[in-house]
Amino acid sequence: MRTGPQQWFFDTWSAFYDLAPVQWATYWPVHDAIVAALRGRDATRILDVGCGTGQLSARLARERPQARITGCDFSAGMLRHAAARTDAVGWVRGDACGLPFRDRSFDAVVSTEAFHWFPDQQRAADELFRVVAPGGVALVALVNTPARFVADGIHAASRLAGEPFRWPTSADMRALFENAGFAVSAQTRIFRLPGGLLLPPVLTCAVRPAGSRHQPATDHPPPLGGYRH
Ligand SMILES: C[S@@+](CC[C@H](N)C(=O)[O-])C[C@H]1O[C@@H](n2cnc3c(N)ncnc32)[C@H](O)[C@@H]1O
Repeated sequence: MRTGPQQWFFDTWSAFYDLAPVQWATYWPVHDAIVAALRGRDATRILDVGCGTGQLSARLARERPQARITGCDFSAGMLRHAAARTDAVGWVRGDACGLPFRDRSFDAVVSTEAFHWFPDQQRAADELFRVVAPGGVALVALVNTPARFVADGIHAASRLAGEPFRWPTSADMRALFENAGFAVSAQTRIFRLPGGLLLPPVLTCAVRPAGSRHQPATDHPPPLGGYRH
């Protein structure tokens, strides 16, 4: 059985993704949180995983002209819109569970409203760890459910709907990133109306300790309903 969403689903979605009300209500608050969290950090190589139509990557390129920004997504449709937006970003097609980048090649990796779609969340966290340099940071923002049973219920419903995703709890996010080798330094709730009152996005800030080495994990729990968390 297929464990993750299909690329065509996102290719289709990309056509109306940039509508201002959609962006205002859903994506800009989390983008603001990432931009604020990066402020003061000396990150010159930044990767945006699941970059979609490239709104955040392009904003980072505008605000940090000295930095090299890379946006990565597995949907060709999303990347077409991204490429039309700006050539100040390097757009790369790739899967979050097997990133097409060398070890330790970024100072910061960011991801907004995408991690819940990755079908193997532990592998995705491992990949973020692998590509970020020691001392670098992963900033990952998405809805965190208040309890595991809520996460399980929404996951089951999304499977029935044919496009499975899993919103983790904050404890799940901490465990995923600590298993990968990160030190989680903060988990901050992001204010967003109206749905964010019930299901708030949370920014997890995870630092790859200086001097740490990448160790491919072998002892993760087996997939649960196609999702590892
Ligand atoms: C809801 S959009 C968020 C886009 C963007 N980060 C933003 O905040 O506007 C989720 C994105 O994740 C991408 N995505 C989903 N699964 C993926 C995977 N396994 N690897 C790479 N990208 C993926 C989708 O194509 C889509 O562009």
